[in-house]
Amino acid sequence: MKVLVTGGTGYIGSHTVLSLQEAGHDVVVIDNLVNSGEESVRRVAELSGRTPEFHNVDLVDEAALEDVFAAADFDAVIHFAGLKAVAESVREPLKYYYNNLVGTLNLIRAMDRHDVRSLVFSSSATVYGEHNPVPYVEKMEIGANNPYGRTKEQIEDILSDLGGADQRWRIALLRYFNPVGAHPSGRIGEDPQGIPNNLVPFIAQVAVGRREKLMVFGGDYNTPDGTCLRDYIHVVDLAEGHVAALNHVAEPAGIFRWNLGSGQGSSVLEVIRSFEKAAGQPIPYEVTARRPGDLPAFWADATSALADLGWATTKTLDQMCEDHWRWQKNNPNGYGT
Ligand code: WQD
Repeated sequence: MKVLVTGGTGYIGSHTVLSLQEAGHDVVVIDNLVNSGEESVRRVAELSGRTPEFHNVDLVDEAALEDVFAAADFDAVIHFAGLKAVAESVREPLKYYYNNLVGTLNLIRAMDRHDVRSLVFSSSATVYGEHNPVPYVEKMEIGANNPYGRTKEQIEDILSDLGGADQRWRIALLRYFNPVGAHPSGRIGEDPQGIPNNLVPFIAQVAVGRREKLMVFGGDYNTPDGTCLRDYIHVVDLAEGHVAALNHVAEPAGIFRWNLGSGQGSSVLEVIRSFEKAAGQPIPYEVTARRPGDLPAFWADATSALADLGWATTKTLDQMCEDHWRWQKNNPNGYGT
């Protein structure tokens, strides 16, 4: 299939572009490069032997987006493009609502004009909010507790209403848990701009000497070792989940929601130990106050993706840390190395 990937130069996007090309799809990437660079596309081309077409396009630029659709005959779209930092979304909600919602509305209007109605959307476990029992199940009521998560929830509602009004739409809403790791080649990986918000990229930067030590946000939670539990998923497993979902929405049928997670939780201290093993060195850390908004523990009920898509995670936490470390060691300053 000819697939448009929005946000395809980013961490999850670039890994998905690689999986799509390895599965024989033709890929066109659009990205506004606000959080990533074109080097990741060059490296995906190096790894797959095929260069995806790239356009530096912002989804809020309707005319530029129309030019991309007019020049191609897409079969499907995978939509990653969006701002995704929870703390930043609390500080700058308007920026998040405008970018994530208007960008998505422009995209689905362009798809509608060009009769492209197969869509895989990058949603997030953050839509489950703080009141659902764990493990999270797709049919649960959702209710995000931050502007970033609310944009994901509102886009899910928009797409559900669209599919409800017009049965020609075939839409997969993929709720990711905690993506970590990197392609085993060590050539593509996570390259956060500035200070990493997330645990594993921060640990990786400590290990490579860019950060002095890790702050563990809270050691007094009601969990086995006092630190928070999360469902970490290898980014390559996540990418393969997108290929499986794409194949499913190629068939005429409605709106689907799938959790993409391992179905189990790992604690912050377990992640630290696993990364120390991978890097062969201690990771200095200090237990500090809890981070506002953090939940003690959550993980996925991953049974639907297995039943419907035949997809499940295959990689262990140790493999995630080994692959993340190989990327960081080989690229101490990310793509700027
Ligand atoms: C994991 C654990 C922290 C950093 C976030 C977003 C979510 C999704 C995935 C987009 C927590 C602890 C972290 C650090 C720490 N993103 N931690 N020190 O918060 O589960 O999810 O990323 O969809 O929307 O909310 O991931 O990696 O930030 O934190 O102790 O320097 O690591 O307290 O317990 P989180 P995370």
